[in-house]
Amino acid sequence: MFLLNAIELNSQIIAKNGMVVSDSDIASQIGIDVLKKGGNAIDAVTATAFALAVTFPAAGNIGGGGFIIYLNSKNKVTSIDFREKAPILASEKMFQNETGDLIYNSNHKGVKAIGVPGTVDGLYYAHKKYGTIPWNELVQPAINLARNGFIMTIGLFNSVNNRKFHPTQDFLKNYFNNPQKKIVKPGEIWIQKALSETLISIRDEGRNGFYDGWVADEIVEFMKKNNGLITHKDLKNYNSVERDPIKGDYKGYKIYSMPPPSSGGVTLISMLNMLEQIETEKINFDSTKYFHLLIEIMRIGFFERAKYLGDPDFNLNMPIEKLTSKVSSKTKFKLINQNKASKSLINGINHPNDGENTTHISVVDKFGGAVSLTYTLEDSFGSGMGSTKLGFIFNNEMGDFNPVAGLTTEAGLIGTSPNLIEPEKRMLSSMTPTIVTKNKKPYLIIGSPGGRTIINTVFQTIANVLLFNMGIKEAIEAPKIHHQWFPDNVRFEKNKLSDEIKNKLILMGHNLIGVEQLGNLMGILFDEKNKYFIGASDSASPDGAAIGY
Ligand code: GLY
Repeated sequence: MFLLNAIELNSQIIAKNGMVVSDSDIASQIGIDVLKKGGNAIDAVTATAFALAVTFPAAGNIGGGGFIIYLNSKNKVTSIDFREKAPILASEKMFQNETGDLIYNSNHKGVKAIGVPGTVDGLYYAHKKYGTIPWNELVQPAINLARNGFIMTIGLFNSVNNRKFHPTQDFLKNYFNNPQKKIVKPGEIWIQKALSETLISIRDEGRNGFYDGWVADEIVEFMKKNNGLITHKDLKNYNSVERDPIKGDYKGYKIYSMPPPSSGGVTLISMLNMLEQIETEKINFDSTKYFHLLIEIMRIGFFERAKYLGDPDFNLNMPIEKLTSKVSSKTKFKLINQNKASKSLINGINHPNDGENTTHISVVDKFGGAVSLTYTLEDSFGSGMGSTKLGFIFNNEMGDFNPVAGLTTEAGLIGTSPNLIEPEKRMLSSMTPTIVTKNKKPYLIIGSPGGRTIINTVFQTIANVLLFNMGIKEAIEAPKIHHQWFPDNVRFEKNKLSDEIKNKLILMGHNLIGVEQLGNLMGILFDEKNKYFIGASDSASPDGAAIGY
């Protein structure tokens, strides 16, 4: 096929030169403009991420944190960790009462749930080391969007109405107001003046425009006023870390994903290695057997996740090699009963309140580079708190730590030590930005929001492509399930999984719970035969778009 430009076919975008897929069509277009100017994937993702902080504030952010997997044009892959950190004043028992019990939901709600934001530092680090277009040109489009406004969409308008507000603050209540203090309706222009000022500071001063100067002063002032913990020292000390990605191979493809403090990469590779033990010629996607094996593989993967993983700077002896080795996966797979559901044991682990609102960006450039970036505020609109002078929302990421040591219950808590709260520690994440290469070239760029479901939706989408040869849109939309060790049940997409498979899984002893949706995937796949990229955003994303050129 000869492509003059990008074309749309069956809800997928096909393009020769480059592509950006994100939760906002406006933000994807901004990334494409950067690529067309000659920028690389890091430049494009930087501009897209800043734009998403304006157009998709439920999860796009400068007040949260995240991860980048970057494949450069010379087939070198690295990861950048800009996960939030616990403030220096944080402590292991900060969410407990005098008798050591968790104060209900205190780790998710209120000012103490806010971790030291990492996004600005992470994007700055990535750009300084790997970017080619001047920094100010990458932040400017977001400033324009915030200052001049953009049209409020139905999706965005609905998203804030689905968010429960924290009763002690009103930042979000007025967040979607126009200067006349009336709520901006779909079709009207939404301007974010205060956010534009904060972005100008970041444009002009780089990282220091957020962690130092008037923005930092205002963050600290906000903390003081609301009994928060973040100080100037926390902001000054914040640092992103470049880490070796977690590597795996599956049927000749190389997989690169996020290492701890994300649990995503380790659990993904462990599960793919177990999946590789299936005699694939004897299994169909649309079969009870396949979904049964997925559940049992997830049960093992998520037990390991909870038991072993945390911030690598505080846990020096995590058995990463063993968890991701082919040999140990063979042994683990042999333990699976092929015909019957097993049971998760009480010494297993759960953590029910993972925020599910995160957002993912996939990018490829014309130089052979690719970026997979996932970042988050934890809950939808994070803590819901912010300073009206700054115009952005703070995360509530402290809820991703284990809040009470030793308290691991069937009903819902993890108490294992690798992820207990310590000053300046990063909380364990499930974000799984991933790049798959074939013949040293980008082949599949994929990621999703969804709390702990992220690992499983990315896992299944990769399997759909590599094992069942699905196209990217088909792989993203195919029925997905989720098991996370505890609670011992299987979430499935009500409108997608067939009744026959569902009923047979129940007969095998699985406890099934129907949900509307799992994941919200943003993916790009390389078509080797025709040498073009095919991109698709999940139909769960009302404003999401793949844009190519
Ligand atoms: N806050 C969701 C995650 O990091 O996995």
